[in-house]
Amino acid sequence: MLPKRLWPILFLVASLILSACGGQASTPSSSTEAPTTAPADANTGAEPTAAPAEPTTADSEPTTADSEPTAADDADATMPAGDGSIVAPDVAGLPDLTGITITAIQSANENTGPMLDRILADKFEELTGAKVNLVLGETSATDRLAIYRQQLSAGSADVDVYQVDVIWPGIIAEWAEDLAPSLGTLDNHFKAIVDNNTVDGRLVAAPYYTDAGLLYYRTDLLEKYGFEPPQTWAELEEQARTIQEGERATNPDFWGYVWQGKAYEGLTCNALEWQVSYGGGFIVEPDGTVSVNNPQVAAALERAKGWVGTISPPGVTTYQEEEARGVWQAGNAAFMRNWPYAYALGNAADSVIKDKFDVMPLPKGEGDGARNADTLGGWQLMVNKNSANKEAAIAYVKFLTSPEVQKFNAINRALLPTIPALYEDPEILEVYPFYGPLQSVFVDGAVARPSTVSADLYNDVSTAYFTAVNQVLTGQQDASSALASLENEITSILR
Ligand code: GLC
Repeated sequence: MLPKRLWPILFLVASLILSACGGQASTPSSSTEAPTTAPADANTGAEPTAAPAEPTTADSEPTTADSEPTAADDADATMPAGDGSIVAPDVAGLPDLTGITITAIQSANENTGPMLDRILADKFEELTGAKVNLVLGETSATDRLAIYRQQLSAGSADVDVYQVDVIWPGIIAEWAEDLAPSLGTLDNHFKAIVDNNTVDGRLVAAPYYTDAGLLYYRTDLLEKYGFEPPQTWAELEEQARTIQEGERATNPDFWGYVWQGKAYEGLTCNALEWQVSYGGGFIVEPDGTVSVNNPQVAAALERAKGWVGTISPPGVTTYQEEEARGVWQAGNAAFMRNWPYAYALGNAADSVIKDKFDVMPLPKGEGDGARNADTLGGWQLMVNKNSANKEAAIAYVKFLTSPEVQKFNAINRALLPTIPALYEDPEILEVYPFYGPLQSVFVDGAVARPSTVSADLYNDVSTAYFTAVNQVLTGQQDASSALASLENEITSILR
């Protein structure tokens, strides 16, 4: 069965979207077999200092616009097929697609993603007669977007289905097939996400899963040192320092707090949380005002800089999600900022921190506008408008975004559904009362990055932002001067 402790997170994160969109409850009809464990991750043993593992075959991903999709077959070969204990659900109403082959880019080569993608693709093949080639995506959202853009802007039809980030609809719209005529209005999904994915009246991607940044903390260590879960960054710092000092006596590799500090999209997510928690605004406000250059943002960034090399490893400025999780899941950190997927992996049967941690909203900053802030993430599925196999590509998207598959993904890898009904699944309610004890803390909702207002320029805005923040973290610039130049840079990007 699903680890029971997983569900409160699903409730918590869903609650903010539910409260924002007023989603209705209904009961999904499927029932999915849950695995008892999540496979262990290769990263967990050592302190990672380098970039995450790339796909194991050099040609397992398309790197040029005109690369041949045959690379996808090699990528398939690197993906473990599972041991048969994880069973993908049946989904009704799919067409006969015998003889058709499609190519999809979904998970990166990390943790259980590729294996679970393959199990689902095998089920789709069984249900339709189609063949699905899976190509590994880049681990960094920023790098992934660069490759997608190379391929799509060249008019490539090599990849039929792309997994796209919640911040990209304005960027990828011109290359996307409008899914509304075939998938309808998707009324059973969170309206906010469907709206996010609708550009100039066209549904450019279907919601696959949603995400929100969370603070992970070691319940056993907080208890050992007599702490309550931290409500503010100042409390987190104090606790991290004390626990680190104490644990170092027996474990020299121990750190207080791990997060994502590399110059890439993940740092935009982390830093937006810091600055919003300080009441520092949203980088670019919904009306287009560039607001990033203000004292609250400067204070938030200076505070984060103070963590590097003290309560966080010096190498944290090169960490993505899996590097942070590697330290955390080896039992070498008191706190971690990460997405919900890390919850399932941390509670795997062979995990040294199994049942020794919990999650909560990220802490509040200081000042008048201090609040909890958790960045909204999530992934969608897009069909390449140049695809030669649109019927099959759309059927695959329909399959993957179905309630049955979303429930499978929730149970097997803690991917949060985009279908409100799944948060009221009777199997879940039997175990948990609706919503968790932290629901009220999430009530303000997750924080969206300024992607709607920046539209096709979002990646330039985010790149300017994470580059400046990384320079502050690594001591190349102080926060005030970095923010003054950043304001000018973002203003000219958006002009
Ligand atoms: C997660 C989020 C995504 C975000 C990325 C940054 O995958 O779902 O929205 O852009 O992390 O690393």
